Amino acid sequence: MFEVISNQQLATDIFELTIKAPRIAQHHRPGQFCIIRAAQHCERIPLSVADKDSGAGTITTVVQAAGHSTQEIVRFQPGDYLLDVVGPLGQPTHIGNPKYAAFIGGGFGAPAGYLMLKALKDAGAELLAIIGFRTRDLVIYEEKFHNVSDELIVTTDDGSYGHHGLVTEPLGERLANGESFDLIMVVGPVVMMAAVAEVTRPYGIKTLASLNPIMVDGTGMCGACRVTVGGQTKFACVDGPEFDAHQVDFRELSERLKMYQAGETQAYEAGPHQCKVEPRYWQVRENDG
Ligand SMILES: Cc1cc2nc3c(=O)[nH]c(=O)nc-3n(C[C@H](O)[C@H](O)[C@H](O)COP(=O)(O)OP(=O)(O)OC[C@H]3O[C@@H](n4cnc5c(N)ncnc54)[C@H](O)[C@@H]3O)c2cc1C
Ligand code: FES
Repeated sequence: MFEVISNQQLATDIFELTIKAPRIAQHHRPGQFCIIRAAQHCERIPLSVADKDSGAGTITTVVQAAGHSTQEIVRFQPGDYLLDVVGPLGQPTHIGNPKYAAFIGGGFGAPAGYLMLKALKDAGAELLAIIGFRTRDLVIYEEKFHNVSDELIVTTDDGSYGHHGLVTEPLGERLANGESFDLIMVVGPVVMMAAVAEVTRPYGIKTLASLNPIMVDGTGMCGACRVTVGGQTKFACVDGPEFDAHQVDFRELSERLKMYQAGETQAYEAGPHQCKVEPRYWQVRENDG
């Protein structure tokens, strides 16, 4: 059982949970994720580690209450216990020795880049961060990115805050003006990652995308997280989640993410799951004395 230390709402439907998980905090490396199962009847939900404190033995994750299971996770309050937190999972980011690197983050994907940038900073890189949101009210982690990067650009689709437009615009301008990066990392919605890959492709800049396919076990057994990279099948949970963005089949990833949409909507509309077996089990136990 994993104690929730804090739960803070950052924006509409976006919550930051800090969880006591000393072993994960100790072993986690940037780029890796964890899987949370809130309670017995819940799905296993992959979530990035947005921050950690090895001393305090805590990890922090930023959760968008997108559907049924994430809604259940964000209901947990300080002092409550999550049933399972498994991790760290996946491969750590290969930081290398870039002199100038950029992180491009979108929506709830942006916090996933914070520890990557911290690691790049520690490796001595100069850093540009571009984080994009639909509108001002959804802007999160601005101060944290400001503290860790040399330059931060915030974009909003509707122009209500920062640069008016998509994250690809300031990035494209920089590249067109002759700026060159040793590494670009991107985390966010599939369409955004695909667009960033197209912007950097003509310049041949190494671009890593952290993919978010549907996952089940997170250990390479079930195949749910199958993605095609450079024509080869990879399992994002064990081979990734980061891959060369120029090689990823984003169209297939997008299609696979929609596979269970009808069921997801049904589960969301039905509200929290009511287990029919568990009450019966306890009743039988009681009757048996
Ligand atoms: C490695 C990894 C790291 C992730 N990190 C985070 C994170 O830090 N914070 C966070 O909020 N979410 C993160 N996600 C996405 C998160 O796991 C999904 O949003 C979640 O599984 C949705 O479950 P649900 O039952 O609440 O919603 P569902 O009812 O399953 O889906 C609701 C909506 O979300 C979409 N969706 C479902 N699964 C995904 C997915 N894997 N990625 C994107 N959209 C999805 C559906 O198409 C649907 O529109 C991550 C996913 C992966 C694979
Ligand atoms: S989630 Fe099952 S193989 Fe990756």
